[in-house]
Amino acid sequence: MRSYSLIAPAKINLYLEILGDRPDGYHELAMILQSIELADEIEVRAIGTDTILIHCDHPQVPSDSSNLAYRAVELMAKEFPDVFAKFGGVEITIKKHIPVAAGLAGGSANAAAVLVAVDMMWQLGLTQPELQDLAAQLGSDVPFCLAGGTALATGRGEQLNALSALDSLYVVLAKDRNLMISTPWAYKAYRSEFGHTYVRDTQSLESRAHRVHSGPMVNAIRHKDGSQIGRLLHNDLEKVVLPTTPQVAQLREAFQSSGALGTMMSGSGPTVFALCESEAHAQQVQQKVRGMIANPNVDFWVTRFSNRGIQVVSSVS
Ligand code: C5P
Repeated sequence: MRSYSLIAPAKINLYLEILGDRPDGYHELAMILQSIELADEIEVRAIGTDTILIHCDHPQVPSDSSNLAYRAVELMAKEFPDVFAKFGGVEITIKKHIPVAAGLAGGSANAAAVLVAVDMMWQLGLTQPELQDLAAQLGSDVPFCLAGGTALATGRGEQLNALSALDSLYVVLAKDRNLMISTPWAYKAYRSEFGHTYVRDTQSLESRAHRVHSGPMVNAIRHKDGSQIGRLLHNDLEKVVLPTTPQVAQLREAFQSSGALGTMMSGSGPTVFALCESEAHAQQVQQKVRGMIANPNVDFWVTRFSNRGIQVVSSVS
């Protein structure tokens, strides 16, 4: 039976600005997303029956349709019923390295990997835009996880503009393993506190997104200026998460005084990251922050920027 092994990298948000409401209930965003080398390992195998099986070594990852990887197969089966009938179901094994519910798009990355694997397994030959379209139906971050690298993301986060590759910086990640933040909660809290500042007309939305595209962060990325990127990190969701989640605020403060190039919460949190110019610098920052944080539940990772999205490592017939 055919099987594929894939690498599904996590992402961090170098920039996240909430521009306004959308008619579909989501928010209009202007984000700059960056892949990192911290990645899950995914294996997708053809099975003779019409079932979808998910195994994961992490106890918090569900094996039913609440798992986005499961929904990726369901979506493919719905879109291509005849091919699904011909090839049958799949068994997915996820080796988790990306922390769960952390603001690092781990679930979205897994779903993106499954789309790539099923496309190959069912010999669909989908184009990149077709895969991106399916990815957008699964979640706002899935298209970026598929493509990877460095990108400006607008709309719900699914409209991507690739930016010049940036793979020289290192990242320290820190997360309290007992802490989870609901993404819908974070956006809802932001709307109730800052909804009055939202841009309401389409033209202003476009000009705000354009301002980010031609703004200082994109310029710093173009010049691979790590210090400037560190200074310009931004995430609107910090405005609702930091005041309500002291563990995140403490990590932010510790990283702030650690000598890193810059620090920010990723997505809706609770992971906090810091940018560093080399691996040695990242190890130093990690040691410093470990020493400052009394909380024994904080896990740390040192990784680096990556310029790749989903990667197929091997395929066996
Ligand atoms: O698209 P995804 O399922 O990842 O989004 C999770 C939740 O985050 C949504 O249900 C919504 O509450 C919020 N969200 C939003 N605007 C976006 C992206 C996400 O309000 N552009």
